[in-house]
Amino acid sequence: MVSDPILRAEDVWVRVTPRGATEPVAVVRGASFSIPRGSQTCVVGESGSGKTILMRSILGISSARSGVTGGQAWFQPGGASQARAVLGPSGRRRRRPLARLRKGWAGYVFQHPQEALDPFRTVGAQVLDSVRVARGGESREAQQAKMLEWLDAVRLPDPRGVARLHPHELSGGMAQRAAIATALGTEPEFLVADEPTTGLDWSVRREIVELLGALCRERGMTLVLISHDFQVVERMAERVIVMYRGELLEDGPRKRFFPGPGRHPYTAELQTRVRDLEEGRAGTGQGAIVAPERTEGCRFVHRCPQVVHACKTGMPPDVVVNNGHRVRCHVVHRKDA
Ligand SMILES: Nc1ncnc2c1ncn2[C@@H]1O[C@H](COP(=O)(O)OP(=O)(O)OP(=O)(O)O)[C@@H](O)[C@H]1O
Ligand code: SF4
Ligand SMILES: [Mg+2]
Repeated sequence: MVSDPILRAEDVWVRVTPRGATEPVAVVRGASFSIPRGSQTCVVGESGSGKTILMRSILGISSARSGVTGGQAWFQPGGASQARAVLGPSGRRRRRPLARLRKGWAGYVFQHPQEALDPFRTVGAQVLDSVRVARGGESREAQQAKMLEWLDAVRLPDPRGVARLHPHELSGGMAQRAAIATALGTEPEFLVADEPTTGLDWSVRREIVELLGALCRERGMTLVLISHDFQVVERMAERVIVMYRGELLEDGPRKRFFPGPGRHPYTAELQTRVRDLEEGRAGTGQGAIVAPERTEGCRFVHRCPQVVHACKTGMPPDVVVNNGHRVRCHVVHRKDA
């Protein structure tokens, strides 16, 4: 149980209709989790596991071909007594999605800054749009000063000069900093950063992630960081959520994952695989291993080194094995018993 969550989701299902198909397929299956207020949570899992679509669906910014078909989620700005439903009882979205984001409770940093920045407008104009959402009643001069303050806060050199530039005139790292400034300009309480360092140099990656962590801590913002990078997870996550093929397999405080007795076998595999990639012992990318679809039993059974009979017949229950640590695995539950 997470005390004082800022976001709570219960049994969320998301289905998408792939291009050319008529029937939707489930890409998020019964996700339940809580995000503690002011915390830094990392969501990990190989490519296609549903990390992006889960968070985007809850924030209401997923594509037209996908939809939440079940579950509930609440944003709790001032505790449970002020819970606001962001999904309806049947999973319907409650308010116009982008309007909700722009109203300031949530911000989203996209994988590629191009998704967030308009190529035809200056960086300053775009950050100013965000500032106006939070500070509509202030004078133009005050808004302008705040815009420059945000460009400075994300450590862009010469904020006045950068404000006059268009996104294509920035390096990748600078563009991502500008995109972070547009996300933070609305002064959200809750920020999702979705692989914000993809395509950047190693040195810049670390700077961007550390910048995000520092900004959130300074401002008391809650951060959900979607990442493949276990070094990042190890350094900054307080909680970790592990997803595999649309399901949450593990969720708990970071200290339960490193070194991690009682980890889910998939989490252990992910960590080993990432370490092998870093040390040049493996040639495959994230998500390169494909397992056939299963309708019964554990979805990880094709790759798991610890399979027991129950794994093939029954879906493992989602059980708390330790204080605030949930694992969905028959074997981990037995060891813990
Ligand atoms: N708009 C869409 N139309 C069709 N399928 C989609 C759409 N968005 C996501 N999907 C599918 O949903 C599944 C989950 O995708 P998602 O992008 O959430 O994965 P992810 O864990 O974020 O992966 P990555 O690490 O590569 O970003 C994938 O199988 C993907 O192909
Ligand atoms: S339930 Fe069984 S197959 Fe699934 S991860 Fe646990 S041990 Fe492996
Ligand atoms: Mg993604």
